[in-house]
Amino acid sequence: MLAVDGPSGSGKGTIARQVAELLGWHFLDSGALYRLVGLAALTAEIDFNDTDTLANIALGLEVRFANKGGDERIWLQDREVSAEVRSEAAGAAASQIAPLPAVRAALAQLQRGFRRPPGLVADGRDMGTVVFPDATVKVFLTASLEERARRRYNQLKEKGIDVSLAAVSKDMAARDRRDTERSVAPLKAAADARILDSTDLSPEQVTHQLLDWLKQAGITPKH
Ligand code: C5P
Repeated sequence: MLAVDGPSGSGKGTIARQVAELLGWHFLDSGALYRLVGLAALTAEIDFNDTDTLANIALGLEVRFANKGGDERIWLQDREVSAEVRSEAAGAAASQIAPLPAVRAALAQLQRGFRRPPGLVADGRDMGTVVFPDATVKVFLTASLEERARRRYNQLKEKGIDVSLAAVSKDMAARDRRDTERSVAPLKAAADARILDSTDLSPEQVTHQLLDWLKQAGITPKH
């Protein structure tokens, strides 16, 4: 089991997916689950403080992930929600509902269900600290705010979304603050996590470093 945590834009999603693919392991994008609860709250106009209703939604999430040609797709019951889940609105809503302990407890239970042979790579904010404290290898991936904002800005531009770098950077700083300062499962490295700053590294270099650490723990790629 590999846990990869870090702030948004640190590249953890891309790297964790790639490492899962190389190992032939399952992959869990835990942020997508928070985004789904956030989306449900937006769609049904549920107040972000309505803990009971939101926790019930989290408990009842019928989510399915599928990887088609390297492209991750997400279904909620029978409805494909891949694009909605990745929207900035869903990300912002996710970080609003993420501080609620009852929502976190429900989603942690759901997340642990993804751990199946031959192994799991899970990415998020509290994979190594709370959800999978016994993970074989824990990595905390960071990068400067400037670099993370630049990466997110480029991604959005590629998708044809019109935003300014300053606005992306401001949103990201606000989300970082909410994730780091919340009292339940704040974003932080586990005491036994390996910390990697990806500011000046290519995705290939980061993947290489993770594979090295896995190798030291006796885990090697399938080919
Ligand atoms: O990683 P992603 O940007 O998809 O996560 C969206 C939001 O969900 C984060 O800003 C954070 O508030 C929340 N989250 C969390 N714990 C996780 C994953 C995501 O609190 N394990």
